[in-house]
Amino acid sequence: MEKKQQQLHSSWKNYSNGGFPIPLIGCAIVVAVLLLSMASPASSCTEQEKDSLLEFHAGLLQDGGLAASWKRNITDCCVWDGVTCSADGAVTDVSLASKGLEGQISPSLGNLAGLLRLNLSHNSLSGGLPLELVSSSSIIALDVSFNRLKEDMQEVPSLTSVRPLQVLNISSNLFTGRFPSSTTWMAMSNLVTLNASNNSFTGQIPSHFCTGSPSLAVVALCYNQFTGGIPPGLGNCSMLRVLKAGHNNLSGTLPNELLDASSLEHLSLPDNGLNGMINDAQIVKLRNLATLDLGGNNFSGKIPDSIGQLKRLEELRLDHNNMSGKLPSALSNCTNLITVDLKSNHFDGEHTKVNFSSLLDLRTLDLLYNKFTGTIPESIYSCTKLAALRISGNNFFGVVLLELLTGKRPVTVMATSKELVPWVLQMRSQGKQTEVLDPTLRGTGYEEQMLKVLETACKCVDHDQFRRHVIMEVVSCLASTDADLQK
Ligand SMILES: *[C@@H]1O[C@H](CO)[C@@H](O)[C@H](O)[C@H]1NC(C)=O
Ligand SMILES: *[C@@H]1O[C@H](CO)[C@@H](O)[C@H](O)[C@H]1NC(C)=O
Ligand SMILES: *[C@@H]1O[C@H](CO)[C@@H](O)[C@H](O)[C@H]1NC(C)=O
Ligand SMILES: *[C@@H]1O[C@H](CO)[C@@H](O)[C@H](O)[C@H]1NC(C)=O
Ligand SMILES: *[C@@H]1O[C@H](CO)[C@@H](O)[C@H](O)[C@H]1NC(C)=O
Ligand SMILES: *[C@@H]1O[C@H](CO)[C@@H](O)[C@H](O)[C@H]1NC(C)=O
Ligand SMILES: *[C@@H]1O[C@H](CO)[C@@H](O)[C@H](O)[C@H]1NC(C)=O
Ligand SMILES: *[C@@H]1O[C@H](CO)[C@@H](O)[C@H](O)[C@H]1NC(C)=O
Ligand SMILES: *[C@@H]1O[C@H](CO)[C@@H](O)[C@H](O)[C@H]1NC(C)=O
Ligand SMILES: *[C@@H]1O[C@H](CO)[C@@H](O)[C@H](O)[C@H]1NC(C)=O
Ligand SMILES: *[C@@H]1O[C@H](CO)[C@@H](O)[C@H](O)[C@H]1NC(C)=O
Repeated sequence: MEKKQQQLHSSWKNYSNGGFPIPLIGCAIVVAVLLLSMASPASSCTEQEKDSLLEFHAGLLQDGGLAASWKRNITDCCVWDGVTCSADGAVTDVSLASKGLEGQISPSLGNLAGLLRLNLSHNSLSGGLPLELVSSSSIIALDVSFNRLKEDMQEVPSLTSVRPLQVLNISSNLFTGRFPSSTTWMAMSNLVTLNASNNSFTGQIPSHFCTGSPSLAVVALCYNQFTGGIPPGLGNCSMLRVLKAGHNNLSGTLPNELLDASSLEHLSLPDNGLNGMINDAQIVKLRNLATLDLGGNNFSGKIPDSIGQLKRLEELRLDHNNMSGKLPSALSNCTNLITVDLKSNHFDGEHTKVNFSSLLDLRTLDLLYNKFTGTIPESIYSCTKLAALRISGNNFFGVVLLELLTGKRPVTVMATSKELVPWVLQMRSQGKQTEVLDPTLRGTGYEEQMLKVLETACKCVDHDQFRRHVIMEVVSCLASTDADLQK
């Protein structure tokens, strides 16, 4: 009976593989197949598939109790823990994430001809990643992240036919050696997501990634030892949404061609040795950009005016560079900005011309260690008062609150705002908090609310970051104050 069913299944498979229109086969057969598969829903895996899995198991030093589960039904591997089969009994998924597995990954898994997804993430597997898996002719998602795999990744030989792999996550392992070159990626035409972060890969970023893998949408190469420049060829990655290659040893400039990858939403290259200027005419091509992180490099020049055209920009990090000039007023056109980190540069200007009151989502604005003169930009405090004060939420926010309440300014630059903050903290510790309030604000009947805001401000400037208010606490405190004020 079991044999007959298998025959029927395979004959049906043959028809459909041969492109035979089902109506031609005759309804009787279809009905018979349906009835049979309903009578016995779980068809068992083949002997060969079972052996491949057992061979994989034999390569493990620690199996986290897998053997016990697998031995419960030694005949049918489709019922084994972590194994899923299709209706016709082919193993399609092996999901053994976080099972405490140790030992090597056996290439025998490559013999599972119907395997679509292999997930061995978060184990302690060591040794190499068998080429049989990377270049499998069935696997679409391979996740071996968070293990102790090492050695070089083997190259997929050139002229290998197109592989179905779409997701490759080899991140957080101990891989060393040169990153696979363009020949490997030539066979990966279907690759959408590649995460190789947090390894010790060396060598250059492959120059023709997308000639071979035109569907690439996500490339994460952070925390490795990549050297050389950003290959201009990445500009041919028309589907690329995310490129992360921070914390490497990359050098050279941002190639103009890269900015042809106009689907980019997330470009982050922090902590490398990149230099040059951000090209005014080129950066506007990245109209979909939400995150631009170029912190910790050697970029120079000013923030281009065209940045105002990046309407979707939420995160702008240019900290720890060699940038200078005034902040462009166009920045106030990036109304979705949430984070602006410009610390440790040489930006200057007496007052920044940015109209911060249009940046209603701004939560973090870090301008420390620059050459700004004058005070905090007027628009942050002179605009709609408390409503505008809800926009920020770091140390600096507390300083702004204190400025408002005391009517005093933190002398010149924010970096030297020390004088205001310790004075308020000292007065408060002496129980003289009412005296720090701006005389013009006293006697208006709102002292109670103002003292509440003062408490919030003092918590925001606390040196102990764990005692600082998180933004939600600040917002809810100010919201309740606001409600009181509106009475
Ligand atoms: C093993 O699984 C198959 C198919 O699911 C089932 O028919 C058989 O009874 C099971 N055997 C044992 C010993 O549980
Ligand atoms: C692998 O399994 C882990 C844990 O369940 C999960 O977080 C991860 O998304 C899976 N990987 C893939 C590619 O689905
Ligand atoms: C590995 O990367 C893939 C694709 O980004 C992702 O779906 C999966 O969740 C990642 N695995 C883990 C364990 O985070
Ligand atoms: C890549 O994997 C790391 C963990 O190894 C994870 O933190 C990171 O978010 C992943 N990157 C992407 C773009 O999926
Ligand atoms: C990097 O990988 C190691 C294991 O190799 C892991 O312990 C660590 O959490 C990973 N770091 C990140 C940021 O994912
Ligand atoms: C982009 O692809 C085209 C066509 O394949 C090729 O001629 C061009 O050299 C590529 N650009 C870069 C910068 O590699
Ligand atoms: C980074 O690259 C420079 C030269 O390009 C080299 O001198 C240096 O040793 C590299 N550092 C690391 C950590 O690889
Ligand atoms: C920036 O360039 C200077 C001079 O060329 C060099 O000394 C410094 O190490 C570079 N910094 C970074 C972060 O690459
Ligand atoms: C920093 O930028 C200035 C010009 O703005 C340039 O003269 C100087 O060489 C740069 N320094 C480094 C280390 O790149
Ligand atoms: C901001 O955008 C408006 C309308 O899109 C435009 O008229 C104005 O010139 C822009 N401002 C700057 C400083 O770019
Ligand atoms: C700043 O922006 C606000 C809100 O968009 C607007 O009402 C105000 O007129 C602007 N101020 C200046 C000086 O442009």
